[in-house]
Amino acid sequence: MENITDDMIQNLSPWNDGIKPGDITKTVKESACEQAYQVSPRYLNAAGRLFGGDLLSWIDLTGALAAKRHCNMPVSTVAIDNIHFAKPLHLGDIAILISNVTHVGNSTMEVRVNSYVEDLATGHRSLVNTAYLVYVALKDEKPSRVPRLIPETDIEKREWFAGEKRNEIRKSRRKEGI
Ligand SMILES: CC(C)(COP(=O)(O)OP(=O)(O)OC[C@H]1O[C@@H](n2cnc3c(N)ncnc32)[C@H](O)[C@@H]1OP(=O)(O)O)[C@@H](O)C(=O)NCCC(=O)NCCS
Repeated sequence: MENITDDMIQNLSPWNDGIKPGDITKTVKESACEQAYQVSPRYLNAAGRLFGGDLLSWIDLTGALAAKRHCNMPVSTVAIDNIHFAKPLHLGDIAILISNVTHVGNSTMEVRVNSYVEDLATGHRSLVNTAYLVYVALKDEKPSRVPRLIPETDIEKREWFAGEKRNEIRKSRRKEGI
């Protein structure tokens, strides 16, 4: 698979190639979301830490919000990548989740959700997890075309190219059944 180079970021704009007459376009920041949750006793596991399934649920909800804002339709989760919890969260900790649409297909939107634990005393945020989720926009229960995404910053453009690669990897895993 080709490496993502600075030249690609500066000179290529494949996101414009897929625009059809009548398509709506949206930027990444138009749908970005930030959610905060405090870890209360009902979210703890037997080890006294945040139960991973609850964090996963918050990740899915925050990702879905960005996807819904992008397409203005109901969405359903199709795939979730990369769950690796780098740090535990404890009672009273604040979890911050930030979601951005990184890539779109025809009816699908890939969303990156970064999860942080925020230190109440200093406001310092430490990264806990980066997940990529795929949502499908549904109209009358059927996949429906979503607005085109226009990445503006170098980071957003790099994410678009990386999103194309992740999409290829998902397709080949589906094909091979692994
Ligand atoms: C997602 C769903 C609508 C796809 O239905 P389908 O008949 O396979 O539809 P299509 O083949 O037209 O695929 C629609 C899109 O989903 C994508 N897709 C399907 N399976 C995927 C997977 N495992 N990973 C990533 N994308 C996937 C396709 O690539 C296509 O993308 P595009 O429109 O951007 O090109 C269907 O599988 C579904 O309803 N799944 C349940 C989702 C759900 O209920 N989630 C909540 C938790 S249970």
